Amino acid sequence: MNILFIGDIFGRPGRTIVKEHLPELVKQHSIDLVIANGENAAAGFGITPALAEELFELGIDAMTTGNHVWDKRELIEYFQMADGNPHSPARRLLRPANFPDKMPGWGVYEGRKDRAAYAVMNLQGRVFMGQSDDPFQVVDRLLETVKSKVVIVDFHAEATSEKIAFGWYLDGRVTAVIGTHTHIPTADETVLPKGTAYITDVGMTGPYDSVIGVKKELVVDRFLSGMPARFEAASGDVRLCAVVIECDEKTGRAKRMERVMVRQ
Ligand SMILES: [Fe+2]
Ligand SMILES: [Fe+2]
Repeated sequence: MNILFIGDIFGRPGRTIVKEHLPELVKQHSIDLVIANGENAAAGFGITPALAEELFELGIDAMTTGNHVWDKRELIEYFQMADGNPHSPARRLLRPANFPDKMPGWGVYEGRKDRAAYAVMNLQGRVFMGQSDDPFQVVDRLLETVKSKVVIVDFHAEATSEKIAFGWYLDGRVTAVIGTHTHIPTADETVLPKGTAYITDVGMTGPYDSVIGVKKELVVDRFLSGMPARFEAASGDVRLCAVVIECDEKTGRAKRMERVMVRQ
């Protein structure tokens, strides 16, 4: 089974490059399953129900988010729209699982793609991030409930150390641990000794002529003046950053992880 995981889709530039290149990537890598992080789809801040639907229409099977999940409050109603249907698009959009239990939405999704059952989990780190439950303990609990052998974990975190530790913690227990959130791809993709594919950060799918997606002048000014500023999405040097994971769907073990970067 070949899985494509697309890093944080940022604003219209990110959505457009996914639309333009997803079909050829699926063909080129014989992709069976497409997962993407969509937390920045709405001009860099959150995702709306309409944009989630638009991205699902392009052929994304499941989507994760992160700290930006509530930037667009309409998502509360969207999660409610799942209304008991375990495979509706609203149910295939995740928020970090280690957020409070009473929060709307889900942190894990289990589905089937022609050849195999799979699970997607979304967890958020705690180092240099907002408050959440311990992702290490929460992932243990989630793994007890999941039936699929193929398990893809989006670990949305800032610190490389926390991400690498999480990868080692899950080695042999999940198919892949994919880091998101920093918007900068790292070159450490690997398959750990017990069969878990790992990368510290898959990188952003969006404008790189920016500071992690935002117009660079605005961010530099904020560092210089210390004054709050309204951030706007940048538009130049758009790239699609992703990884392809090849795994054995019977055991869930990864065989290979490959970094992909497509420039517009
Ligand atoms: Fe992000
Ligand atoms: Fe984030």
